Amino acid sequence: MALAKRQILVTSALPYANGAIHIGHLVGYIQADIWVRFQRLRGHDVVYLCGDDAHGTPIMLRARQEKLAPEQFIARMNQEHQADFARFDIVFDSYYSTHSPENRVLCERFYERLRQGGHIAQRPVEQFFDPVENIFLPDRFIKGTCPACGAADQYGDSCDACGKHYAPTDLIDPRSVVSGATPRRKSSPHLFLQLEDFRDQLGGLIRGGMVDAAVANKLQEWFGDRLKDWDISRDAPFFGFPIPGQTEKYFYNWLDAPIGYLASLAHYLRAEPAEAEDFWRAPGRETYHFIGKDIIYFHALFWPAMLLGAGLPPPGKLCVHGHLTINGGKMSKSRGTFISAEQYARHLDPQALRYYFATRLTATPADIDLHFGDFIARVNSELVGKLANLISRAAGPLAKLLEGRSGAAAPAAGAMLADFRTAAPEIATDYENRNYAGVTRRICALADMANKYVEEQAPWSMVKTAPEAARSVWSTALECGRILTIYLKPILPRFAEKVEQCLGLGPLAWADVEQVLSPRRLAPFEHLAGRIEERKIEVMVRENQTPVAPAAVAGPVAATSDRPTSGGSWRAGNESPKSPLGPTGAPSAIAQAPVTAEPLAATCTIEQFNAVDLRVARVLSAEPVQASEKLMRLELDLGALGRRTVLAGIKKAYSAEQLVGRQVIVCANLAPRKMKFGVSDGMILAAGAGGTDLALLSVESNATPGQRVH
Ligand code: 2FM
Ligand code: ZN
Repeated sequence: MALAKRQILVTSALPYANGAIHIGHLVGYIQADIWVRFQRLRGHDVVYLCGDDAHGTPIMLRARQEKLAPEQFIARMNQEHQADFARFDIVFDSYYSTHSPENRVLCERFYERLRQGGHIAQRPVEQFFDPVENIFLPDRFIKGTCPACGAADQYGDSCDACGKHYAPTDLIDPRSVVSGATPRRKSSPHLFLQLEDFRDQLGGLIRGGMVDAAVANKLQEWFGDRLKDWDISRDAPFFGFPIPGQTEKYFYNWLDAPIGYLASLAHYLRAEPAEAEDFWRAPGRETYHFIGKDIIYFHALFWPAMLLGAGLPPPGKLCVHGHLTINGGKMSKSRGTFISAEQYARHLDPQALRYYFATRLTATPADIDLHFGDFIARVNSELVGKLANLISRAAGPLAKLLEGRSGAAAPAAGAMLADFRTAAPEIATDYENRNYAGVTRRICALADMANKYVEEQAPWSMVKTAPEAARSVWSTALECGRILTIYLKPILPRFAEKVEQCLGLGPLAWADVEQVLSPRRLAPFEHLAGRIEERKIEVMVRENQTPVAPAAVAGPVAATSDRPTSGGSWRAGNESPKSPLGPTGAPSAIAQAPVTAEPLAATCTIEQFNAVDLRVARVLSAEPVQASEKLMRLELDLGALGRRTVLAGIKKAYSAEQLVGRQVIVCANLAPRKMKFGVSDGMILAAGAGGTDLALLSVESNATPGQRVH
């Protein structure tokens, strides 16, 4: 029965134009690309849109650093991003930019309608201003001493040491991260979108299925109080679009970013922006935004409010994914696991990553872990050992031993082939619901069945005496392989293309599951997938490892950029939580930690150095301090020196399981320090910038707890 054709619009979050695409980003893009390919395979009409998020202060400053005009800088980034996506077979119908004429027109149209609807308020805002750079400083561009606990070097929104949230103007001795100058307070009028005007409609959307239940529950927390007005303006100098009717005011980049979806649509349609709006509002059009969990707030509240205020339909569905961890921890430059898309593709096969991510992805916004050991095992045993092997073990002998001709499938295998075909609706449901883990599980179970069949039939033992019987066994395996290829095609488009070529078939569609592979001459068989070698991962990680200056990590640690903002782990503030300088602005998945060579500290004498008593310690237990963003409570065994409790700022880099049993180095004669969450009796050593970017200095297991470290 033919399916009713759906008209679907899919977007992926627009990556910031100031950093390379890394494998953390790829989770969401691969997830969306698979979904798009699945819908097309089913015969639906899909337009898949993306582009660069090109405006904002960090991008303006990055361009300045590189001595480029922002337009030149973002043009280069756009090329690089497109090349990265192509490497992973992520194919958009339009990859555009928020810095485009279409987007400017659209932003002005939205703003005008919001203004006329009475949804824009104006009032003064006092902010820090950098007198050297002549720019207003967003919270993350200011550092100073925490007003609550006195910890030095804290960002303008919250303290890493004590967890306190505050206004940047509360910081003691504030300084600009950009110029180092002491910022001064300056007031200027700002424009606000009154989100509260849309409360009922937004609540209805959230309860009505725009997000899955897990996300809806989280969003309910934000509905407790009055929805805060959203500051949509920024002062000059700013890289963005000027606000009509205002002087020296620009649209905040988070206003023009989602409107960029419509600009990308206009670009795809090669049409005026107004036509993109018509396309968007067409009856029956389904809209899906694939986003990371850190940008839910923007897509579930601000964006629908903007659309509603502008008289356009709100998004149909937000498909929210979690973040990527590697080997159970955050991506880390010092550990070499901060891997760019380009680096990965230089060392390993992109389709292996597509496959592996698929095995881990479900509809929940849970984080997914790329565990190298599991990655190797899965790809080698499933993708290569079960799936590619099924087709090559049939096509190979048919080519070599039986004139390269396939025949009819064995009648006795009818029941198995029926099972292959009846799996289609369940696999389709899993795809539709973004349960790709379910898809790959079902596919592998079918492949197991077919491989077992070939082994039991042992066609190689009969090929001399009963060649036609052998041909029918291998042809059955080929038919199974063809059906599995259809099921796999959204995940592995290249694999599918090679199978189609070998079998001399046009592009396979979902409905072809019901077809029967007729006897045919096979084209030469191309290798479908290669094994992952551990050595290649090691080389990639080593090449990628960035040496960093050591940093002690008890209590307050060195500044890091990848901290959540005041919204907790789900970003809810008005500013991007990304740090301003360095390779920042990483989109949704994982924020990038800038790796800066820390300047050498003042020299110390040998006597002073010898006074620091460093010892080997074994971690007996580790427990995250619930109320702290970064502290772990560790019980350490120092052998004859007894036990110690140390509060260490390593929660973001290590899980408790990763720590227990480990041998670390501890400064044992540091005076005990009273901290908000208890007394810390020592300090453990680690390399890295802090936050997620930390590697514990450890010693081999044959060292004895309590031993002095020289
Ligand atoms: O968080 C981010 O990476 C943003 N650049 C995503 C923007 S998505 C959309 F709104 F444009
Ligand atoms: Zn503090």
